Amino acid sequence: MKRILFIFSIIYGLSALSQTPTWSNDVAKLIYGNCTSCHRTGGIAPFALETYEEVSNMAGWLQQAMEDKRMPPWTPDEDYKHFVHERVMAPTEITTFQQWVAAGMPSGNLNIAPPLPVYESGSQLGSPEISLSIPTYTVASASDVYRNFELFVGNSTATNATAIEVVPGNSSIVHHVLVFQDSTSNPINTGGAGGTGSDASQLLYSYVPGSSPYFTPVGTGFRLAPNTRIILQIHYAPGSNGLSDATTVNFKTDNSPLRKIYVNPILNHSNMTNGPLIIPANQVKTFNSEYTTPIKSTVLYAFPHMHLLGKSVKVWSNAPTTNDTTRFVWVPQWDFHWQDNFIFPNSVILPLGSTIQAQAVYDNTTTNPNNPSSPPVLVTAGESTTDEMFLVFFAYMPFSPGDQYLIIDKRISPKGATTFCQGNTVRLEAINGDGYTYQWYLNGAALPGETNYFMEAGTSGDYTVSITLGPNNVVSDPVSLVVNDSPVAQIQTPSSTDIPVGGSVMLSAAAGTGVQYQWYLNGNAIAGANNATFDAPYNGAYTVEVFNGTCYALSDPLLMTGGVTGLEELNTSFEISPNPAQYFLQLRGVLLGKALLYAIRELNGKELHKGSINGMNDQSISLDHIANGTYLLDLIGQQGEVLYRKRFVIAR
Ligand code: HEC
Repeated sequence: MKRILFIFSIIYGLSALSQTPTWSNDVAKLIYGNCTSCHRTGGIAPFALETYEEVSNMAGWLQQAMEDKRMPPWTPDEDYKHFVHERVMAPTEITTFQQWVAAGMPSGNLNIAPPLPVYESGSQLGSPEISLSIPTYTVASASDVYRNFELFVGNSTATNATAIEVVPGNSSIVHHVLVFQDSTSNPINTGGAGGTGSDASQLLYSYVPGSSPYFTPVGTGFRLAPNTRIILQIHYAPGSNGLSDATTVNFKTDNSPLRKIYVNPILNHSNMTNGPLIIPANQVKTFNSEYTTPIKSTVLYAFPHMHLLGKSVKVWSNAPTTNDTTRFVWVPQWDFHWQDNFIFPNSVILPLGSTIQAQAVYDNTTTNPNNPSSPPVLVTAGESTTDEMFLVFFAYMPFSPGDQYLIIDKRISPKGATTFCQGNTVRLEAINGDGYTYQWYLNGAALPGETNYFMEAGTSGDYTVSITLGPNNVVSDPVSLVVNDSPVAQIQTPSSTDIPVGGSVMLSAAAGTGVQYQWYLNGNAIAGANNATFDAPYNGAYTVEVFNGTCYALSDPLLMTGGVTGLEELNTSFEISPNPAQYFLQLRGVLLGKALLYAIRELNGKELHKGSINGMNDQSISLDHIANGTYLLDLIGQQGEVLYRKRFVIAR
């Protein structure tokens, strides 16, 4: 009976183990899909999240940032409206991360983890017709620096821009870039977090790290006036002192007659209903503005703009007779550092006589950590850092029949590396909006059933997606995947899975040529077990890892029973204390010299946490992240065998 229960508990333990998220199977993918565009070596974020160690060392903090929606940075309220390229984690991704932390952050087999994506450092526009770089600028301050740079296009005739892109010169210091067009010769402010200094500047595009280039819908473009100026307002993050940058802005142009997209601050200081914009010291003030549209129009994106006192902003429109509300954007916690042009996944058609409205709240008290003045002072409208603004730019066109079917974006975004080993996959995503239908293709052949806005791709080749909306259809540019062959990793059925008392059973891996082997017991590499066969003396779950020089593969586990080491306590003379424990467990005894690793398990064998033993005679291990309960502590030897196993209790 005892034996049956024991087998049952190991099987139960194994199945629980297979559902527990690991770094290699689940978490690396989620971090690479949501975080490493900024949190990487040379990226804008203050620390990298590229490796298992980096992420597991601060997992609790990362989990908090995900749960509180502080990270990835995305300021609009997700339930109010969705946008193209929003930086939002799926709820299932947050759950996976929480489960991983609760399970003690198991690494899984690091050799089979997906590779870090390769980040583009050059242009994604192919060959841009206009490419303008700022002269090399060296930051000379330890805190935030805002700078306006004036660049002359040198175009003698007007042209249309059909794509805009910012390529940071130094991606570790460029925090955001606002791209303005200004065809006047008004002088500009070189410093300051305010506007450009010219009230004729049109805000075309906003870059934050990881931003995609903006492509105008087919047949449309921004008009660049003859001899126009482009003004880049660049924010350099704190910690950039002494570092240099030469950021570039690129445009694709098209001289054929295209429909013109207008970008204007439709809501501005002149249409405030309770203006002017005066914010007395130590007050929180709410302002409204509204504008009634004189024509039926097609709106592509909205871009609210405030300075450092901004606290929240909501933008919407009411239809003339029905008063129906169309939502544009709600930023419940304005952050000057993460302002963006919020692109609608479907064009918004506004009937003539619609009332576009915005409500903005400003906090000019000492509780606003961004208040540029201490103590607070009276603030009015203006272009400099200590002034305020209340603008909402819109990109729009006079309506033309069929505009509700404009396909807003036709690109594929891969959410991870595009070169990897067989067995992994990468999620490819296309625009997600109302009424769109999709068909994915691999090397020109339709993939049956792949008709969602995303697909998980795991085969080499060129992927495209055909996107249809109403009568319109576009086919994306291809994304190429290179999937390297993995070896076969499989343990042949042994003569018996029951190890005779005091004996062993020969295990053998499926044959392969020119491959290397490593056997594992309960997820721990067995020292010296590097042949196609292994003579197994211990109980537990065996796996074999096979490497072909490029890729690793890991077999399914094979459970061996009957030997000595079960989930019973192995009371070799050794001391753990205190028991019950709270946050630490103290280990004492000569065994420490022989053990390589320790593991903390649930009573069913499921591993919660593993660490290495440093061989010292007296050391303590942390029980952080492990809830109250009864557990097993294992000390694990050279061969992956359990040398010591003892129950202990955590009670706080
Ligand atoms: C678009 C860029 C970007 C992305 C994507 C991003 N971060 Fe950040 N992160 C930053 C920057 C920049 C900072 C420094 C503080 C700031 O400027 O807001 C930061 C700071 C943090 C901090 C410390 C500050 C805090 O709020 O606790 C944590 C934790 C963090 N990031 C976790 C993550 C995680 C986890 C992900 C992915 C799920 C992620 N970040 C994705 C840019 C990014």
